[in-house]
Amino acid sequence: MKLHPDLEKILIDEASIQQRVKEIAAEITRDYAGRSVLMICTLRGAVMFFADLVKYIDLDVRMDFIACSSYGAGTSSSGEVKIVKDISQPIAGLDVIVVEDIIDTGHTLKYLYNMLLNRGPASLKICSLLDKPERREVELEGDYVGFKVPNEFVVGYGLDYNEKYRNLPMVGVLKPEVYAK
Ligand code: IMP
Ligand code: MG
Repeated sequence: MKLHPDLEKILIDEASIQQRVKEIAAEITRDYAGRSVLMICTLRGAVMFFADLVKYIDLDVRMDFIACSSYGAGTSSSGEVKIVKDISQPIAGLDVIVVEDIIDTGHTLKYLYNMLLNRGPASLKICSLLDKPERREVELEGDYVGFKVPNEFVVGYGLDYNEKYRNLPMVGVLKPEVYAK
């Protein structure tokens, strides 16, 4: 596949992503055998990962969607989290997995995790495609993590810069001049 002209390099190619997504789905299928699970997709970054992941999970899966704002335009965290769109059902007594695109500072997920935990699920786990541990500002770990990435701003496979590049099938790093535009 041709490299997008705004990308400096590919960090994780499409085949590697698909392979890892299948591995995580198999892990979840094993861990939750005989149970049903509610998968919550965080909009919009996790959409690609979520859609691929649920296809490979061999369980009774239900889906819901939540949107929170943590970043404005740009690449740095505000630390402030707001729920823009909540899930559409109570989760008390359910086995719940929150699916994220990336754990960066951890602020967004920490907030989301505590909010959902307060609603009394039977269990609550975190599944994230990417993890940038160097950037962490709060104590938080993903239960299922696709790839650890270095401290670089990444785009593609759901992740955006100013709402662009979400549709790329790989994860990559933008050329410096893209930010100057
Ligand atoms: P956190 O609250 O700092 O952990 O960041 C959470 C959100 O920021 C993620 O769900 C992403 O939407 C966004 N984000 C963090 N790092 C990146 C990145 O490298 N590329 C694109 N989006 C990112
Ligand atoms: Mg974003």
